[in-house]
Amino acid sequence: MVTVVVGLQWGDEGKGKIVDYLAEKYDIIVRFQGGTNAGHTVLVGNEEFIFHLVPSGILRENKIGAIGAGVVLDIDTLLKEIKLIEEKSSSLENRFIIDGRTHITLPFHKDEDALQETSGKGIGTTKRGIGPTYRDKYWRIGIRLFDLFDEEKLRESIEKSLTFNNYLLQILGENKTYSVDEIFKMLMNWRDEIGKFVGDIALFLNDEINAGKNILLEGAQGTFLDINFGTYPYVTSSHTISGGATIGTGLPPSAIDEIIGISKAYTTRVGKGPFPTELENQLGDHIRERGGEYGATTGRPRRCGWLDLVLLKYSVMLNGIDNLVITKLDVLDGLDEVKVATQYELMDGSIVDHLPYNLDMVKPVYTSFEGWRSTKSARSIEELPANARKYLDFIEEYLEVNISLVSVGKERNEIIEYH
Ligand code: GDP
Ligand code: IMO
Ligand code: MG
Repeated sequence: MVTVVVGLQWGDEGKGKIVDYLAEKYDIIVRFQGGTNAGHTVLVGNEEFIFHLVPSGILRENKIGAIGAGVVLDIDTLLKEIKLIEEKSSSLENRFIIDGRTHITLPFHKDEDALQETSGKGIGTTKRGIGPTYRDKYWRIGIRLFDLFDEEKLRESIEKSLTFNNYLLQILGENKTYSVDEIFKMLMNWRDEIGKFVGDIALFLNDEINAGKNILLEGAQGTFLDINFGTYPYVTSSHTISGGATIGTGLPPSAIDEIIGISKAYTTRVGKGPFPTELENQLGDHIRERGGEYGATTGRPRRCGWLDLVLLKYSVMLNGIDNLVITKLDVLDGLDEVKVATQYELMDGSIVDHLPYNLDMVKPVYTSFEGWRSTKSARSIEELPANARKYLDFIEEYLEVNISLVSVGKERNEIIEYH
């Protein structure tokens, strides 16, 4: 059984919590794209963990964690996460594997990202060097984990990279440059630390499927941050949709059995870019505070707004969603009225049901629902307030997709098996 989990909005849908919950039934959990821009929160007992690179669920003992070739790797962060997991759970020796084709984020990538952002010309990135690492990958001057095992060739690769990257740093207004020796030494230290985890994920995963193992592929970011289908240029640099799970791991599309999409019961976004249902008022502030909507990676306040079903419908289509998970329903508890966007009004006054290319100028048309008091203690569909069920049933009908889980709190057990 191979399952893909993806975010259907602009990230932070609660992928960490849901992947950790689902992981119980899987043997191997894999990250397939993105890098330390991701911040996936997992609550175990009273302890909260925010993972940027290692797959959520790896805190459960005897689970194997993997990082696919579609990821970009900040090794300093990875080492911290490995240490934490080994302290809190069990040794990762023999239960963690990283694809050797994975590209490495180097210090100048982070410098470039931060310089671009502080110059005012940025798009509101996490400044984790994600865009520059993928840029070097696509320009074929990137450095991969496998490259660390051929020292002579590695020096040449570093030279090639620095010819461009040192020059770029200067153009961006930075005086500092990096030397080949310094980067080489850094990479050799990293090789000593993580060399034992490097392998061929494509081969490993395909073999494990044949051995009957269950594999969970954990997406990062969300559908509308996808480099092709997101709200370009306000997007990340990887393929965040379910198709990214195959190109980021080396599993063929035919290997995928189920695709699960996660959406909050409302919408959030961090960074710049269009957001039709954004609430720039007290209600938006209320949702932010109640939902703890502050970035898990950067601490930035998240922009908040109503659920947008026009957007979600497109997302369900792009990802081929089999089952939908709704998270943070409890955050809407206590409101008198809850709204969802079901259509858009365009500049010329026409009303459309579909998603236009350009989201800048659309005005949402809302359907309104009566609110409910509390979902927090509900553990079954019957225990949910009738109005909350009406809200969920409407979402299901509009999207024509089954809701399998509803999350009503941060904790592992605050979840309802819906259908
Ligand atoms: P991810 O990036 O998709 O993994 O999501 P984040 O971890 O960045 O953000 C989701 C936040 O919501 C985290 O703080 C979670 O602990 C929290 N969370 C997840 N599910 C629920 C839920 O059902 N209710 C509430 N109140 N919080 C939740
Ligand atoms: P998780 O996995 C929310 C956003 C940034 C910015 C844009 C590009 O926790 O859902 P980048 O640093 O990737 O070049 O920034 O993408 N972004 C996220 N927003 N959740 C994330 O990850 C994000 N990762 C990137 O805020 O708008
Ligand atoms: Mg997050």
